[in-house]
Amino acid sequence: MATPWDQAYKHIIPLDFNSVNSVPDSFVWSQSDVIQPDNGLFIPIIDLMDSNAPKLIVEACETWGVFQLKNHGVRTKIMEDIESEARKLFDLPIDQKLKAVRSPDGLSGYGIVPIQSLFSTFMWHEGLTLFGSAIDHAKALWPHDYQQFSDTIDEYQSQMKALAEKVTGILFRALSIPVEDLNWFDDPTNRSGCNLALQLNSYPPCPEPTRTLGLAPHTDTSIVTILQAKTSGLQVFKDGVGWIPVEPEPEAIIVNLGDFTHLLSNGRFISVLHRVVVKPIQRYSMGYFYRPPKDFVVSPLLSKDLGPGEVPRYRSIIAKEYHELKANCKHYEKAFSLIEN
Ligand code: OGA
Ligand code: NI
Repeated sequence: MATPWDQAYKHIIPLDFNSVNSVPDSFVWSQSDVIQPDNGLFIPIIDLMDSNAPKLIVEACETWGVFQLKNHGVRTKIMEDIESEARKLFDLPIDQKLKAVRSPDGLSGYGIVPIQSLFSTFMWHEGLTLFGSAIDHAKALWPHDYQQFSDTIDEYQSQMKALAEKVTGILFRALSIPVEDLNWFDDPTNRSGCNLALQLNSYPPCPEPTRTLGLAPHTDTSIVTILQAKTSGLQVFKDGVGWIPVEPEPEAIIVNLGDFTHLLSNGRFISVLHRVVVKPIQRYSMGYFYRPPKDFVVSPLLSKDLGPGEVPRYRSIIAKEYHELKANCKHYEKAFSLIEN
């Protein structure tokens, strides 16, 4: 029977998560999607202050596509502030949150996770997607008290951008991609229109955590994604092993590679497949998606290391075109195969 909830909000947030004590059918994923044995493996933890860090990061990207980073230089205060702003947002009553709702053709705003459109089963998740400033959404949410949210988002994004550039710089150097030639790289004004996004994620407490997923398996459409989460839930897939839980180290930040790095490295670096499982307790995470500008041509040929013996596995593709291709692919590996030479 249709409830008022279905009629009003289903396209935005498919469920009033607080009102149910079981997982509705439309959220039930098959058991094989959800449950996995514990294999006792851990992803690498790297100290950015270690003189070996660049080498360790490159190795982690070749074998895992994901690692945790300690001594990353992002201040603890801003990491705490962003989490408390996320909590403040997701704690609002639904009617209030809908004031920042994503418009049907828009990209930024509150609602269902953007990758939901690729799956027919719902995920136990709500989120806020931001591109640049959050001031308009903040004003809609808190007309008299928007500054703190907006300032925290600005500060967090600028710290994430600096960190993402550090990591990207290490990877591009390893690939002999001359960062000096990239007009968007390290541009403080961001004039080149980098297509950077911040995603605040909330995974509400789930009464039957083994029946559903917080995020379905996917790879990120980014160069690198920097993720902050205090609690477990994220799992990464390793070929030949299976799903491995990521246990966040206190104060560390999780870095995972996205599809663009896989393409730029001619397949050397892994765009890691990952998913989120839910718990009986609330979980928040903040994902910063570092991407090139939409008109950037992503090509393995940018790498000066691609020698005479090595052929480009992928054709060149404009970042915007790749985004569109991926948005229409039902399977994460499909996008790569479509542009394989
Ligand atoms: C994402 C993502 C992981 C998490 O937002 O793309 O994979 O732990 N998030 O929330
Ligand atoms: Ni992701």
